[in-house]
Amino acid sequence: MDAVDRLLSQMTLEEKIGQLNLVTADQAVTGPIGSFDLAANIRAGRVGGVFNVWGREEITRLQKLAVAETRLGVPLFFAMDVLHGQRTVFPVPLAEAGAFDADLWERTARAAASEAARDGIDLTFAPMLDVARDPRWGRIVESPGEDPRVGAAFAAAKIRGFQGARLSAPEALGATAKHFCAYGAALAGRDYAAADVSERALHEVYLPPFEAAIRAGCVAIMAAYLSVAGIPMTAHRALLNGFLRERLGFEGVIMSDYGAVGELLAHGVAGDLVEAAALALTAGVDMDMVSGAYGSSLPEALARGLVGTAQIDEAARRVLRLKRDLGLLDDPFRRLGAAEAPQGRFNGLALEAARRSITLLANRGVLPLAANARRIALTGPLADAGGEMLGPWNLAASGESGVSVREGLAAALPEREIVYCQGVEIEGGDDGGMEEACRRCATADIILLCLGETSRMSGEAASRAAPALPGRQAALAQAVLGLGPPVVVILFSGRPLSVPWLFERAQAVLAAWFPGAMAGTAIADILTGRFNPCARLPVTWPRELGQIPIFYAERPTGRPADPSDFFTSKYLDVPVEPQFPFGHGLSYGAIELRNLRASAEAFTIAPDLALSVEIDATNRGERAAEPTVFLFIRDVVASVARPLLELRAWRKARLEPGETETVVFSLSLEDFSFPGRDLAPCLEPGVFEILVGESANREALHCISVQACPQHGIGEHPILSDRNTV
Ligand code: NOJ
Repeated sequence: MDAVDRLLSQMTLEEKIGQLNLVTADQAVTGPIGSFDLAANIRAGRVGGVFNVWGREEITRLQKLAVAETRLGVPLFFAMDVLHGQRTVFPVPLAEAGAFDADLWERTARAAASEAARDGIDLTFAPMLDVARDPRWGRIVESPGEDPRVGAAFAAAKIRGFQGARLSAPEALGATAKHFCAYGAALAGRDYAAADVSERALHEVYLPPFEAAIRAGCVAIMAAYLSVAGIPMTAHRALLNGFLRERLGFEGVIMSDYGAVGELLAHGVAGDLVEAAALALTAGVDMDMVSGAYGSSLPEALARGLVGTAQIDEAARRVLRLKRDLGLLDDPFRRLGAAEAPQGRFNGLALEAARRSITLLANRGVLPLAANARRIALTGPLADAGGEMLGPWNLAASGESGVSVREGLAAALPEREIVYCQGVEIEGGDDGGMEEACRRCATADIILLCLGETSRMSGEAASRAAPALPGRQAALAQAVLGLGPPVVVILFSGRPLSVPWLFERAQAVLAAWFPGAMAGTAIADILTGRFNPCARLPVTWPRELGQIPIFYAERPTGRPADPSDFFTSKYLDVPVEPQFPFGHGLSYGAIELRNLRASAEAFTIAPDLALSVEIDATNRGERAAEPTVFLFIRDVVASVARPLLELRAWRKARLEPGETETVVFSLSLEDFSFPGRDLAPCLEPGVFEILVGESANREALHCISVQACPQHGIGEHPILSDRNTV
């Protein structure tokens, strides 16, 4: 009998149910709070894990209650939303996704883990892996964007980073893949609203990042709040027990989201808390976050025969195993042993991450700033807003400031005259400062205009029906744009903002998102050209709100858009094209891609397929550059209509001026397969287009075709031929 089973055999029913109770402390508020005597409940053995508490003193105090004052001394685990940093705040996940750099994703997670572990945290409620295609949804900021492959790569990198090689190491955190699943499809972008997605969309779009998380060894999964096709995820037996546990073999802990077991009543699928607790437990939810339904109602559910003791045992066993794997059964204080880390230890990494996450969207020759731009006007409500730079989810760093644009510029350009005037507030209708801002800007050589959202306008419960510039910022921008000097706009937001007029009129636009602790330094480095921007959009940037949801991997229509043909798929009032496609992002210089080729024009469908695809990239600019080259495929004729483009891989090159590098991709069988009519993975013979370029803009992609041939020459026509299961 191992330690877990030994413990379990000594536990009363109440103690087992206690392990399933995940409760909030009150150091941070991440959901509705009621009154709860934390210490008394810990002492009574009614708590398995606690979140929203950090710091050595408090964690030591609470852990001592569990270890020394409960009958069996089972330690608690401590969890926290460490989304983009603990003490050192890194760029928000959506921004960091735009670095398209798995190594960076892993390193920032590692750094966050080491800081959080020193704060006594054992488990993070991250990574957030919801594919997000609707910028109205505030939680798009926490996501890796619109593409399942990017989500999968992000998942694997973050889990490697958080968990490290050994979960019980004092600097490792357990990772929680969340929110399972399809949370990004919430109706009309409204947080917590229901989603009605097809099973195909689940398999093609929403599940792959979670599959990757499980392959990478993540130890926990959080069920999403919402219902999918009428079944709340907290009670979704087919997806939790069926898909995660039986099909993928996931053995870790599944937890509800905050209060979600109790919310099964509001969803209208449970008549009382007893039914709610039974529905969640039997669907596969091991831990009840905050609602208290397991504690109050599982004994009654047992009495009513709605659950069995074996199900309670199994859930408690999983929680205890997690504690064992985190090293807590051996040493409940193990993460508190490490020495305090020196402050600023990860500032270099935060700067690197910010530089690599800020996307240059447009540039009509004004950036990098010319040497003769002596007088620089800096205006807009986000120019001197250090606190906003951190974005949402900075619990342990809340109240702190990142480097503001104003500070970053002053440090980078001490010899230039920088004239600052805020202009207007982020929100509200006060125009008071506009005149003065315009007066100061009018005489400048160049104007830097910092606009956008507050960090609280994205994130949980922060949906916006009209994600554009709030308050009087559009008025300030219109006024400044009419003054004469060139205007560089720096946009801060947790989502793409719909501002088509701004892109038409400004000479340059940077999407800074929320870049974190070193924001202003990174922005100054890009403005001055000390750093050549290299980030790319992980989401399609819509032109108009009415285009939402918008993403590159659309399926074909029988009537593709044709402005000269009325009966085609288009809008009468706006173009169908987005403002910027997925993958868009400029640098200082120009990259030329040439000579796309594959190692074979045809390949046989066989398990060991490795088709090599190459393209030559030349840096035609005057600075070293780091282009990102994307490879998409299109399955031209298949039994299920395939998207017009599907991202399969990307590579980053590092090129000196004039240098050429061959960018090499290797495609496997899996890259050509898709969920067939019955949703089982399949690969059908026929023609595949391979499209390579710097974004999902179809017009600019290089294209070749390859032929997938059946192994034994079966079937002349791809649709009629046998399906090959991979
Ligand atoms: C609710 C959020 O949906 C989830 O992402 C978070 O981890 C929990 N609250 C805990 O703070």
